[in-house]
Amino acid sequence: MAEKVERVVHQAADAVRKALGDRRPEVAIVLGSGLGGLADAVSDPIAIPYSSIEGFPAPKVVGHAGKLVAGVLDDVPVLMQSGRFHLYEGHDPSVVVLPVRVFAELGIGALIVTNAAGGVRPSLPVPGLMLIADHINLMWRSPLLGPVFDSEERFPDMSAPYDGALRSVARETALQAGIALEEGVYAGVLGPSYETPAEIRMLQRIGADAVGMSTVPEVITAAARGLRALGISTISNYASGISTKPLSHEEVLEAGKVVSGDLERLVRGIVRHNSVSSSVTTR
Ligand code: HPA
Repeated sequence: MAEKVERVVHQAADAVRKALGDRRPEVAIVLGSGLGGLADAVSDPIAIPYSSIEGFPAPKVVGHAGKLVAGVLDDVPVLMQSGRFHLYEGHDPSVVVLPVRVFAELGIGALIVTNAAGGVRPSLPVPGLMLIADHINLMWRSPLLGPVFDSEERFPDMSAPYDGALRSVARETALQAGIALEEGVYAGVLGPSYETPAEIRMLQRIGADAVGMSTVPEVITAAARGLRALGISTISNYASGISTKPLSHEEVLEAGKVVSGDLERLVRGIVRHNSVSSSVTTR
């Protein structure tokens, strides 16, 4: 099983390497629900459709495209993932984190993950942006389960899964650009149903500020690979029970559009910072 997964990773990395030609992306950016607009901001883009990459299934969720986009964002070569795989779609965790493993194989040293999340802490502005300080894995599974890959840690340290230096850069960038940026703990749940009010009260008690259905598997894999990770949530709605309004995926996509300008400026400012792209590894 592990050999098969490793083979798929190598084949996928080979396909992406071939499509990239002499491009050497330094930062990977995962685009969450309704945040795909950032892919249009890169100059000199090439799209690599998932259908051309071994092991990448076609994404099915509305608001998620299915391509990697390589290009230049503020002088920094980047590789964007437009369309992610979620556990709630029934994917094996190894499929969910396949793109991250490919990024690591390509020698990319920094991973910026964006997502949409519900606000669990009632004081979080909606819609708004939240820098992820830490996470709680309530998905009850790990992408690292099973035999260990040669290139991965068996027991990765998770004391700082969201890189402290990158978070400082994010805070500084937001301050300079006048972008409101909260910071908090992201609880990753399996979904696909939204939470009940009782579940949200539990999340408040265990220290979560926001809740979503992605990101945790990717960041665990980044930790196992030595890739520096940064996470930014679009707080698209008040979590269940905080507002009396029923939740809908449409609301999540709409909120993404409202803050996408701020998110784009924030990510561009972060990427532009020397210390982010200088984290390239030679793996
Ligand atoms: N709960 C879980 N996932 C989400 C939410 C939410 O309220 N909003 C966006 N993604």
